[in-house]
Amino acid sequence: MIKKGIILAGGTGTRLSPLTKAVNKQLLPIYDKPLIFYPLSILMLANIKNILMIVNPGQIENFKSLLGDGKRFGIKIQYKIQKKPKGLADAFILGKNFIKKDNVALILGDNFFYGQSLTDKLEKSLTHTVGSRIFLKNVKTPENFGVAKIINNKIKKIIEKPKKFISNYAITGLYFFDNKVIDYAKKLKPSKRGEIEITDILNIYKNSGNLHYEHIGRGAIWSDAGKIEDMTNISSFVQSVEKVQSIKIACLEEISLSKKWINKKTILKNINFYGNCDYGNYLKKL
Ligand code: TTP
Repeated sequence: MIKKGIILAGGTGTRLSPLTKAVNKQLLPIYDKPLIFYPLSILMLANIKNILMIVNPGQIENFKSLLGDGKRFGIKIQYKIQKKPKGLADAFILGKNFIKKDNVALILGDNFFYGQSLTDKLEKSLTHTVGSRIFLKNVKTPENFGVAKIINNKIKKIIEKPKKFISNYAITGLYFFDNKVIDYAKKLKPSKRGEIEITDILNIYKNSGNLHYEHIGRGAIWSDAGKIEDMTNISSFVQSVEKVQSIKIACLEEISLSKKWINKKTILKNINFYGNCDYGNYLKKL
């Protein structure tokens, strides 16, 4: 069972500049809440309560003023600074003392997932204890993503941003790993773009026959919020779903209450914390 999760919430956010000149990408709004709520909600839906948040220098206080140590949501959040954006695989080197001997999930702080069957798939995947498990999504522009080629239900190839078409299956920013990931990460050499690449780790798992996958089907959506257009698209999506269905996506307190990690008293405290706002008023209805 995977009980620990890392959220990579650093990065430079160059493509979103000037929005990201003074504010970290993960703290920018997606409709009615900061982007970081969405990946955090996915870990919580997967029953992961022990979380390491990796952030840029000087930004721990910003994240803390929003999320604190996680107690408000019945979870535990620790923080770790990444001095430079050395690549996604750096999560396991920075997270070594957090992971210890356990297995671990990684989610990118700018990834948005939503869909009915998703929680079931997550819960099912968490029980696997050997190897790595990734989540694939059919996309129109695979050249912008890490991509997996599947033959006979097995991953045959993994290529980062393939120039030549190999498949439409993008590797999304949610990954489950066994404890070997720490050793694998330590051995990586930086790629041509100067980063230690998660695709290199996935290739090590693939070559030992230990890389597994789930498809995020048509009933679920996935996007990263790397470009302005992504941010506005996801925001509109969240707004539509929330309006039509009178629910909130990624309401952390709601998830926590449904799992009995917090009680109504804590919800009342959180209502006070947010003040008179749409999110706070939604909590009142819980
Ligand atoms: P990217 O979108 O690859 O990078 P970025 O956020 O710096 O944006 P840009 O390309 O526009 O400069 O990062 C994906 C996610 O991973 C994002 O949430 C930031 C995070 N990240 C880190 O925390 N540390 C890192 O070393 C890298 C590469 C990314």
